[in-house]
Amino acid sequence: MTNPFADRDVISTLDFTKEEIEYLLDVAVKMEDIAKYGSKILANKILGSIFLEPSTRTRLSFDAAMKHLGGQVIGFADWDKSSIKKGETLSDTFRVVENYADVLVIRSEWEGAAKYAAEILNIPVINAGSGAQEHPTQSFLDLMTIRQERGKLDGLTIGVCGDLMYGRTVHSLLPLLMNYDVKLVLISPSQLHIRKEDKVMLETRNVQFTEVESLESVLPSLDVLYMTRMQRERFRSEEEYLRMKGFYVLTKNVLKNGKPDLLIMHPLPRINEIDPDVDKLPQAVYFKQPKYGLLLRIALLALIFDAL
Ligand code: NCD
Repeated sequence: MTNPFADRDVISTLDFTKEEIEYLLDVAVKMEDIAKYGSKILANKILGSIFLEPSTRTRLSFDAAMKHLGGQVIGFADWDKSSIKKGETLSDTFRVVENYADVLVIRSEWEGAAKYAAEILNIPVINAGSGAQEHPTQSFLDLMTIRQERGKLDGLTIGVCGDLMYGRTVHSLLPLLMNYDVKLVLISPSQLHIRKEDKVMLETRNVQFTEVESLESVLPSLDVLYMTRMQRERFRSEEEYLRMKGFYVLTKNVLKNGKPDLLIMHPLPRINEIDPDVDKLPQAVYFKQPKYGLLLRIALLALIFDAL
């Protein structure tokens, strides 16, 4: 396959075929040396980084990935010090940054912001989180984590637990998982079920899935458990959030009923949904996911510039 990522926007996981995603993951696992020793393959390239919502992993790993490739990074995370604060539109901001950067990474609370940028700009745009909608690169790294840690995807029963309505990583992960022969167990309070369009998508693709509220009742059947936090900033009110906060807390005690090799994942940040005692278990891989994320983003940037 010739590089399908050359000069490509990365807006939604729905835009990529199974073959394209596996191509990316295959390249990502070969990026260890670049992550360790660096390279100069993007020496003359600049990544523009516009983060209008809080971020730790995504912003820093794009930054680190670009630097490992020999490129440079410009941009802002403290957007209230940019001209957006003065009332400049996002559209004008994007158009201006296009003059200084060769690729743009955008996170915003507005669904569709990255898609809009991709439509009006001539440089590739990467969606680093668009409201409650999508976060494609997180989901690529989540898929990579399962593939590397379990050695396969087919045949697995995967539980996705927490805020399935507002969690954008879940919304991006489902289209990737439905490429495989997996059983999905969607675990959430009834108010936070996956959205209707996700359900229709899974049904259309004949994916086996069940929706349940109790984590304990399904835990013994799972091979992978993907925990997520309640998306406080996207709830309609603080009271609603407070009612949901603490709905799921994964403890070592709860895990006693799980399979011994149950893979425990979380995109992070974790608030209180996984007890810190769980961190020491060998199956807890949520602090390994950021490393896969670095490799994945190195691969993605190198491929977008067709530099490998
Ligand atoms: C996620 C996000 O921003 O959507 N964080 C991340 O990028 N790893 C998950 C979250 O905020 O809950």
